[in-house]
Amino acid sequence: MPNETQDSYLPHPAFAANVNLKNQDEVYRHAAADLEGFWAERAREYEWFKPWDKVLDESNKPFFKWFVGGQVNIAHNCLDRHIKTSRRNKLALIWEGEKGDLRTFSYHALNREVCMFANILRSMGVKKGDRVTIYMGRIPELPIAMLACAKIGAVHSVVYGGFSVEALHGRIEDSQSNVVITCDGGWMNGKVVELKKIVDEALKRCAMIEHVIVVRRTGQEVQMEAGRDYWYHELMVLPIARGNSGGNRCETEVMDAEDPLFLLYTSGTTGKPKAIMHTHGGYMVGVATTLQWVFDLKEEDRWWCTADPGWITGHSYMVYGPLLLGVTSFMYEGAPTYPYPNRWWSMVERYGINILYTAPTAIRGLMRFGEAWPNRHDLSGLRLLGSVGEPINPEAWRWYHRVIGKERCPIMDTWWQTETGMFMITPLPLTELKPGSATRPFPGIEVEVVDEAGKVVPVGEEGYLVVKRPWPGMLRTIYNDPERYVKQYWSKYPGYYFTGDSARRDADGYIWIIGRVDDVIKVSGYRLGTAEIESALVSHPAVAEAAAIALPHEVKGQAIHTYVMLKSGQQPSEELAAELIKHVGHEMGPIAKPEKVTFVPQLPKTRSGKIMRRVLKARAQGLPEGDISTLEE
Ligand code: WT7
Repeated sequence: MPNETQDSYLPHPAFAANVNLKNQDEVYRHAAADLEGFWAERAREYEWFKPWDKVLDESNKPFFKWFVGGQVNIAHNCLDRHIKTSRRNKLALIWEGEKGDLRTFSYHALNREVCMFANILRSMGVKKGDRVTIYMGRIPELPIAMLACAKIGAVHSVVYGGFSVEALHGRIEDSQSNVVITCDGGWMNGKVVELKKIVDEALKRCAMIEHVIVVRRTGQEVQMEAGRDYWYHELMVLPIARGNSGGNRCETEVMDAEDPLFLLYTSGTTGKPKAIMHTHGGYMVGVATTLQWVFDLKEEDRWWCTADPGWITGHSYMVYGPLLLGVTSFMYEGAPTYPYPNRWWSMVERYGINILYTAPTAIRGLMRFGEAWPNRHDLSGLRLLGSVGEPINPEAWRWYHRVIGKERCPIMDTWWQTETGMFMITPLPLTELKPGSATRPFPGIEVEVVDEAGKVVPVGEEGYLVVKRPWPGMLRTIYNDPERYVKQYWSKYPGYYFTGDSARRDADGYIWIIGRVDDVIKVSGYRLGTAEIESALVSHPAVAEAAAIALPHEVKGQAIHTYVMLKSGQQPSEELAAELIKHVGHEMGPIAKPEKVTFVPQLPKTRSGKIMRRVLKARAQGLPEGDISTLEE
C-alpha cells in the first residue's frame, strides 16, 4: 500500500518538448463540457462502415450504449485499414521466444495470417456471435486467433495460460464455446507447460466442444482425438484457408457498434468468475484514444506491454490498442529472469524499445537482483514508462524512474479494470507525477470518493471509488447474468459505477488507490477470487471447509494464505498441506497456489454462517479484530 509521498516530478524538458498532446488542459475542458462531442471526435479517427446515429444512449440505465446505429469492426481498424496505406510493410509485431527465437510480422503478413485463420474458423462453422475459447502460451498465434475471431464476428474468450483444469472447464462451460484454440505446450522458465493435456482434462468435464485447434509450439507428444482435434499448421495449408480468391482474403464481418467483441472472465466477490462483455465500437474508441494520449505514441515507436493477452491489459494494450494505432509492438514469450535477470533489459536494448508498460510486481522482482543487471544495457531508447495492476509502492517507483528511466522518462501509473476496458485514472505525459498516485481521471472520466452512504468524503480520507459518468470502453453486461451486472456494479450507489476499490483524494485532487474492498486478491497483479481458491480446496476429498485471505508480500504485493478445516478422520500434516497446495495448482493454476495452508479446528463465522475472512486477516497480522459482534465461535 503506497504511503502518500511528498515528492513530485515534472516532465524532463527534453521529453516535454516532443509530446504530441501539448494542450492537456484544453482537452480536459473540452471533454468535461461536451462528453458526447469529445468522444465523437475521437471515434471519427477510425473507419466506420456506417456512422452512428447517437453517441451515447442512456435510455436503459445501466445498460448504456455507445455509437448507437454505427457499424464497424475492430479487426478492420486493426488490419484492413492499415494495409491500404504505407503502413502495409511496417512491422506490426516483433516476437521473441523464451529460447531466443525471433518472428516478425508486418501489417501485411499479420493480416494474411489472420485472414487465413478466419477462413478456417468459418469453414468449421464458426459464425457471428459464436463463442470461441482461446487457451495458449504467449505466442503470435494468440493475437492472430483473437483477431480472426473478431474479423468474423465470433466472440473470443481468452483464458490465461497460467490457469488450469477447473478454471478452464468453468470458463468453457459458462461461455458455451464450441471451439477451443490451444497449443501443445508453452515455454515458461525453461519448462514446458502442458496446455493441450490440460485442455483434454478440462474437456472430460464438459461435452459441448466440437473442435480443438492445436498450434505446435513445444513439440512434445500430445494426444489428438480424431474428428475433434486439428493441427493449426495442417489447417493453414488447406486451399480453404487461402479463400475463394486464392489470395489470402477473407471478408470482414460488418458488426453493429454494440455487438460483443469478447468475454473475459474475472473474479468478483462471490462464487464463480464473471464473464465481462466488451463490444466492437466503444471499446475500440476508448482503448485507442487512451493509449495514444497517455503513452504519447508516435509512428516510429516500439511499444512493449509485458502483460499476457489472457488478461485485460493484454487485450487492450498489447493486441487491440497498438494495432488500432498502427504502431510496432514487441511481445516476449517467457519469464523475465530467463536465463538471467537481464533478459528484459537485453530485449529493451536489442529491439530499441521506446515505451515499456509493466506491473509493480515485475519491477519489485527485478529490483531485487540489483542495478548491475540493467546497467549492463543501453536503455537510452526508452522515452516513457508505465505501471498497472496494483498500487506501486514509492520505493519501486523511484527505482524504476532512476535506474530504468534514467530520470528522463515519466511513469504513467494507469488505474483501470477488466470492467473498464481502458485507462480511467492516469497521468497524461505532461502531468506532474507523485510516486504511488495514478494522478487524475482521464479526460471525460469523472470519479468520486464516497463513504458508505454515498457522501463525498473530505480530502485525505479513505472512501469507496466510484465513476460518475459512462465511458465508451465500459463493460456492457456480465454475459448470461445481466442481474448480477446491475447488482454488482450499479446498485450500491444508484447512478454510479462501483469499482470495488478504496481510495483517497489529496488536496491537489490526485487519487491514491488503496486497494480492493471485496474478496478479490491481487497476486503479482493477477486478480483472483477467494471463492475460487476455496472451492478448489474443498474439491479435495480431505477438506471440509476452507477460507482464503490475502496477506502483504514483498514482491507479489499480496500472497494467498488459506485456512483449512479437515473432514473428521483426517489428520493435519505437512505432507497434506503440500498436497493441497499442489491440488489448487492443478485445479486453478500455479498463480493460485496458496503461500501457506494452516489447519484449523474451525473457521470464524457469522451466526448466519458466512466466513469472516476479515477476522482471519486481523489475527494473522496481529491487528485488532474490529467489530466481532456477529461472530459465532
Ligand atoms: C484492479 C483491477 C487494469 C489492468 C490490470 C488489472 C487494481 C489496477 C492499478 C493501479 C492501483 C490498480 C485495482 C483494480 N489496479 N491498476 N495503477 N493502481 N491499483 O485489471 O485484473 O481487472 O484488476 O486492479 O484494485 O480494481 P483487473
